[in-house]
Amino acid sequence: MSNGVRMNRKLEYYLSEVLLTAEQIQGRVAELGAQISRDYAGRDLLLIGILKGAVIFLSDLLRHITIPVQVDFMAVSSYGAATLSSGVVRILKDLDEVVEGREVLVVEDIIDTGLTLRYLRENLQARQPAGVRICTLLDKPDRRVVEVPVDYLGFRIPYRFVVGYGLDCKVHFRNLPYIAAVDQEKIRELF
Ligand code: IMP
Ligand code: MG
Repeated sequence: MSNGVRMNRKLEYYLSEVLLTAEQIQGRVAELGAQISRDYAGRDLLLIGILKGAVIFLSDLLRHITIPVQVDFMAVSSYGAATLSSGVVRILKDLDEVVEGREVLVVEDIIDTGLTLRYLRENLQARQPAGVRICTLLDKPDRRVVEVPVDYLGFRIPYRFVVGYGLDCKVHFRNLPYIAAVDQEKIRELF
């Protein structure tokens, strides 16, 4: 990966437009947390955060879940250096927890082609959980290649490459508290 990319300018320089403000995101995440708490009341819930993009979403969502819940993580890689999905998904870090017989909720940052979540759903289903559902902060339906049912959705957005609130471009921008589209011209300076 491109660990060595140096940024000499402010983060904002590379952005074209804010799509979702921190306030909008916080409001929706609170609603999702309340809904998940209602739906899973009385059940043994395991949240699976997908590293690294979903970490901020997961940690905010978790604080709006009011029922007992456990957390685990998986790391997968599909993109390599490019921003286009290759369709090849590799597990970089697997779960610590056993999921057999448990209610699993996958927490993802964004669904684009759907290839990553289809792979994850099939991989988890093979471990015989009581159920697998998907919660994604963002949905970009324009480039969907495979249909994946999404049970909890934050926001549907048009096709743009977006960063912030955990999402990166060239390993940067995860720390922005809002979600913005990158400026396609200026971002090339980082490649
Ligand atoms: P998919 O397999 O094409 O659905 O891609 C899903 C993964 O690609 C996400 O988990 C993200 O890591 C990454 N991704 C897709 N679109 C974006 C984007 O606009 N910004 C940052 N990462 C993205
Ligand atoms: Mg991801």
